[in-house]
Amino acid sequence: MSYNLLKGKKGIIFGALNELSIAWKVAEKAYEEGAVFTLTNTPVALRMGTLNLLAEKTKSTVIPGDAANADDMENIIIKSMEILNGKVDFILHSIGMSPNVRKGLAYDELNYDYFMKTLDISALSFHKLLLYSRKHDAINEWGSVVALSYIAAQRTLVGYNDMGDAKALLESIARSFGYIYGRDKKIRINTISQSPTITTAGKGIKGIDTLFDFTDRMSPLGNATAEDCANYCVTLFSDLTRKVTMQNLYHDGGFSSMAMSQRAISQYTRSFKDCD
Ligand SMILES: NC(=O)c1ccc[n+]([C@@H]2O[C@H](COP(=O)([O-])OP(=O)(O)OC[C@H]3O[C@@H](n4cnc5c(N)ncnc54)[C@H](O)[C@@H]3O)[C@@H](O)[C@H]2O)c1
Repeated sequence: MSYNLLKGKKGIIFGALNELSIAWKVAEKAYEEGAVFTLTNTPVALRMGTLNLLAEKTKSTVIPGDAANADDMENIIIKSMEILNGKVDFILHSIGMSPNVRKGLAYDELNYDYFMKTLDISALSFHKLLLYSRKHDAINEWGSVVALSYIAAQRTLVGYNDMGDAKALLESIARSFGYIYGRDKKIRINTISQSPTITTAGKGIKGIDTLFDFTDRMSPLGNATAEDCANYCVTLFSDLTRKVTMQNLYHDGGFSSMAMSQRAISQYTRSFKDCD
C-alpha cells in the first residue's frame, strides 16, 4: 500500500547490489511512495550484481562510483543534481565492507592497511557524502540523510570484527555533521541500527545464521527484515519526521533493550539436557 509519503521528492540511493540488499528494498519502497532518485554503486558491484534491473524497475539512472573516492563522490552528487534537475531531498548510505572480515583475520590479528580500508569505505565515505553535498548545496532544507548501522557499534559481537569500529565512527559522523548541517541548512542526519539481515554483506559476518536466530529469539517483535527497514527509511525521508536528527535509531524488534527472553532461556536450557 502506498501513502504517497515521498511524492515530489528526489534522492540518491547508495549500496543496492542485488535484490537481497537493504538499499534495493529502500529503492523499491521509495519509488512506490512517489520518489525519483539516482542509484549508485562501484563499477565492480555493477558487474557482479543486478543493479540495472532495479534501475529499469524504478525508472532510475545508475551512476558508477567508489564512495570512498572523493572525486567519485563529488561526481555522484553533481551528476545526481543534473539528472534530477536540482537539489535532492533524501540520501541513503547503505555501504559496508571489511577486507579483514573477507580474509578471515581475527580482531587481534588485524591487517592495518585493511583496517584503514574498512574505515574508509564503511564510515569516511559517509563524511565525504555529507561534505560534497554541502559543498554543492545539494540537499533541500528539511532534507534527510540516513546511513545504516549495527549494534556492534555499542556492544561487542564476536565475528563482527573491525566493522564494529567502523559503525561507531559512522554513528559519530552522523552526530557531528548533524549539528553543522542542521544548524546551517535544517538538514537531518540519522543512522538506523538494523537487525541482522541475510544479504551479501550480512552473509560475510562469521556465524550470521546463529546470530540471526539468537536475535530473533531475544527480540519481542522478532528481527526486522530488509522490507521493514525500507519502510522505516521512507518515514525518515518523509516530512513526518522533520525534527528527528543526530540519532542512532534502533530498528531491531526490541533486541537492543533486552537482556534475556523466555524463548532464549528455553533454547539455552535445552542445550544443556545432554550434558547433565
Ligand atoms: N545485513 C545485515 O545484517 C546488516 C545489519 C545492520 C546494518 N547493515 C548495514 O546495511 C548496509 C547495507 O548492507 P546490506 O546488508 O544491504 O548488504 P549488501 O552487500 O547488499 O550492501 C553493501 C553494499 O556496499 C557496497 N559497497 C562496498 N564498497 C563500496 C564502495 N567502496 N563504494 C560504494 N559502495 C560500496 C556494495 O557494493 C554493496 O552494494 C551496510 O552498511 C551494512 O553494514 C547490514
